[in-house]
Amino acid sequence: MNNLKTILMASTATILAGSIAFAQSEGGTELEVTHWWTSGGEAAAVSRLAEEFEANTDNTWVDGAIAGSGGTARPIIISRIIGGDPMGATQLNHGQQAAELIEAGLMTDLTDLAEEEGWRDFVNPTSLLDACTLDGRIYCAPVNIHSAQWLWLSRDAYESAGLDVPNNWDEFVETAPQLREAGLQPLAMGQQGWQQSLAFGAIAIGVAGLDAWRAVNVDKDTEVAMGPEYTAVWEAVANAREFARGSNVQDWNQATNMVITDSAGAQIMGDWAQGEFAVAGETAGEDYECLPGLGLNAVLDTGGDAFYFPLVEDEAVKAAQMELASTLMSPETQVAFNLAKGSLPVRGDVDMSTANACMQKGLEILGDGNILPSGDINFSADIQTQIEDLMAEFWAGDMSAADAQQRYADLVGQAD
Ligand code: GAL
Repeated sequence: MNNLKTILMASTATILAGSIAFAQSEGGTELEVTHWWTSGGEAAAVSRLAEEFEANTDNTWVDGAIAGSGGTARPIIISRIIGGDPMGATQLNHGQQAAELIEAGLMTDLTDLAEEEGWRDFVNPTSLLDACTLDGRIYCAPVNIHSAQWLWLSRDAYESAGLDVPNNWDEFVETAPQLREAGLQPLAMGQQGWQQSLAFGAIAIGVAGLDAWRAVNVDKDTEVAMGPEYTAVWEAVANAREFARGSNVQDWNQATNMVITDSAGAQIMGDWAQGEFAVAGETAGEDYECLPGLGLNAVLDTGGDAFYFPLVEDEAVKAAQMELASTLMSPETQVAFNLAKGSLPVRGDVDMSTANACMQKGLEILGDGNILPSGDINFSADIQTQIEDLMAEFWAGDMSAADAQQRYADLVGQAD
């Protein structure tokens, strides 16, 4: 059964909101915008979008934050669109998440706006727009580049244990037992499959190397997934599982908070963690350190967030949707939002000189072109969910690395 059918069957149970999306107000439209940005840093960033939208148009941003992770929010968002209760706009990760909605004719085509405003001339890398494109038509406005391959480290945790702050994953692994002896949690990890899958992906790039990573993630080569490079990955992940034992938090930002409050040495998380450090008043390079590519491979994936606009047969709503899409892509919005979010802008032509030391590292890697496609681009939502389920089982229990490798390779073989 495909995803859409599964979602349709589940939809009645998960629809939460009624049609609050489209009241008219003083010449503008009240546009409900759904997203899963509910941590402190995320909330600060999304309010930049709302401010820009309201400052530059007559419309009103009706905030439709959905608590929980993307994995909780996406089925709610999708079932509302399928169930005839669409919002005005919604966050999703660009890539394959909206493919079935677009194929079902439920989403607005943004191609005319994108051509009029010359998105292809300034979006960098242009692969971000390709990830919004189906059959030559553009269906989303990408708002950021978020990468997942980062190790965040607490300086204080290392200093209090009398250790140097690691410069890469290997040094982290060497010092993790000493952190444990000092009564600290070596690796903070939220107990959710997507976070464990993210950590797996980051370790895979570092340990397997780029060729093997590409063979598995892009070419879906099951022989490589069963080969020695990935055996080493699974052994490294089994090791990381030990360092994460005792980290009983659920949400990713609770795990980030363990690093912020210096009770944990490190966390593998996407660059959105920077939003949390920022609202906690921490300074990159002083209070915390960040290692892109886990300090092993200076690469980043070009995942991220994009806004999609469900098809609504109302001219005022359509106009407000286009105004929001246009606002999201403006240089001012791009700078204000991404500085708060910790992500990189989708425009190559904006001034990011006030970005912190970690964002500067990301900008440099992007400038060097050391980029990879994201998991949302490489795998369908269905396969991603199955991989996340496997990760949750692996990280929470005592499944052997060899068994996990076999199951992972089987899932890679099912991906197209
Ligand atoms: C990702 C999203 C990020 C970040 C993260 C945690 O899917 O792209 O913007 O917010 O979830 O909520």
